[in-house]
Amino acid sequence: MAENTEKTPFSAEIRPMTEADIPAVASLESRLFSDPWSETEIRRSFANDSLYRYYVASGAEGILGYACMSLILDEMNVDNLAVDASCRRRGLARALMLRMLRDAREAGMTAATLEVRDSNAPAIALYESFGFRQIGFRKDYYVKPAEGARIYAKALQEEET
Ligand SMILES: CC(C)(COP(=O)(O)OP(=O)(O)OC[C@H]1O[C@@H](n2cnc3c(N)ncnc32)[C@H](O)[C@@H]1OP(=O)(O)O)[C@@H](O)C(=O)NCCC(=O)NCCS
Repeated sequence: MAENTEKTPFSAEIRPMTEADIPAVASLESRLFSDPWSETEIRRSFANDSLYRYYVASGAEGILGYACMSLILDEMNVDNLAVDASCRRRGLARALMLRMLRDAREAGMTAATLEVRDSNAPAIALYESFGFRQIGFRKDYYVKPAEGARIYAKALQEEET
């Protein structure tokens, strides 16, 4: 196993996304979100690697999940996190999140933020389990359907367990 990868409990590895992964990530994105990022948008942001970092959960069946964060000054934002519907509740999102938080801390980030649909109970439970706390709300932030966003934040001081 390459040094930059780690195993999850569900025999998938978490590693940085490569250009070759982009079609599979775009396919997952279009299956899971009503207002998905296009493959072109994913390619463009992937190329901007001083701002964006992508990770995948990769298993024998292919790409099972992915995540993207952006690093701005000393703050990281979780831009996206998704796991294929057939592999949920097996710790893949937790493993992707742990990897992002660890890398963000190592890159000198002191805080993490994210937005989440008000009704997205699974994602809210995941973020709260990492110690994210709601700091705001943006009405009608999302489209298809229109919905408000909860804004969450967390200080990046201690090591995650
Ligand atoms: C949210 C999402 C990424 C979670 O992925 P996952 O791999 O199933 O999550 P994990 O197995 O790592 O779960 C970690 C923790 O999150 C919470 N959680 C995850 N799914 C949950 C659910 N359906 N109900 C309640 N809590 C849930 C639990 O605390 C869970 O820990 P536990 O299994 O020990 O109880 C997944 O449901 C998904 O892709 N949803 C569609 C895309 C999406 O909404 N992304 C978030 C955008 S902001």
